[in-house]
Amino acid sequence: MRLENKVALVTGGGMGIGRGIVLCMAREGADVVIPDLNLDSANKVAGEVQNLGRKSLALKVDVTKKQQVEDMVKKTLDTFGRIDILVNNAGMMGDRLGMPFLNNEEEDWDMAFAVNVKSVFLVCKAVVPHMIERQYGKIINLSSVAGRFASQTNPPYSVAKAGVVTFTQIMAKDLAKYNINVNAICPGFLYTSFWERLAPIIGKMNPALAGMSAREIFESRVKALVPLQREQTPEDIGYAAVFLASEEARNITGQALHVDGGTVMI
Ligand SMILES: NC(=O)c1ccc[n+]([C@@H]2O[C@H](COP(=O)([O-])OP(=O)(O)OC[C@H]3O[C@@H](n4cnc5c(N)ncnc54)[C@H](O)[C@@H]3O)[C@@H](O)[C@H]2O)c1
Repeated sequence: MRLENKVALVTGGGMGIGRGIVLCMAREGADVVIPDLNLDSANKVAGEVQNLGRKSLALKVDVTKKQQVEDMVKKTLDTFGRIDILVNNAGMMGDRLGMPFLNNEEEDWDMAFAVNVKSVFLVCKAVVPHMIERQYGKIINLSSVAGRFASQTNPPYSVAKAGVVTFTQIMAKDLAKYNINVNAICPGFLYTSFWERLAPIIGKMNPALAGMSAREIFESRVKALVPLQREQTPEDIGYAAVFLASEEARNITGQALHVDGGTVMI
């Protein structure tokens, strides 16, 4: 029960990695707010949290919209009175790949930055004054292995996720004096709806992958790029998030923790 009586807010917590983080935190004793574009899936996960004996609140929120983010924080504070842990998990990769980058269009960059980076700024701007007031906070931002090397597959996503790490470090420096820890997690390869969507697009662009199912394409990437030779799971990311949110990690800030089976070693 390392997060007993803590209140966590996990953006995009309705499925995939976000759901894994929500459930790991609830098992450790946290009450969890679940803002997601998809209210149905957020409600389902909220029910799972309640089955674990913790409180939860599902909200329909687009984290790229300032007003919706501000309303989300107000509703959370009205309901729970505080936010101890913030996980900026909502994010996505666009459908149009690079290889080369000339294939991308202006709107690919706008979308990648709005969903993956601007959202982190908007949510932190709304939550951090409250954390400063309480001189306490744990912020965890979801980057990616794609943000740690020059991923040609989707340049706007790769650059946006690198931006998440840089912004994490800027906030860690700004907020250290208020006892607020800010870290990033860089997941590797997880077969969530993210890869279910991505794999067929990669398949179309690579003749060597012709005829393979989405799952087979994903597995071929894992085999080629992951030293431990296995995919990661939402729980793997949840365990890392619990650790970073716990007092055991009180002296860790400004770091990017790779949970990727050894794909990136820097
Ligand atoms: N799956 C992977 O292999 C992988 C690897 C590295 C990093 N990541 C990152 O981890 C995070 C979660 O990925 P996932 O695999 O669970 O993705 P996913 O697509 O399975 O789930 C994303 C969730 O975020 C929500 N969401 C998307 N845009 C939103 C918005 N504007 N406002 C509110 N909610 C929004 C979706 O509704 C969904 O519930 C993302 O930031 C992603 O970039 C994923």
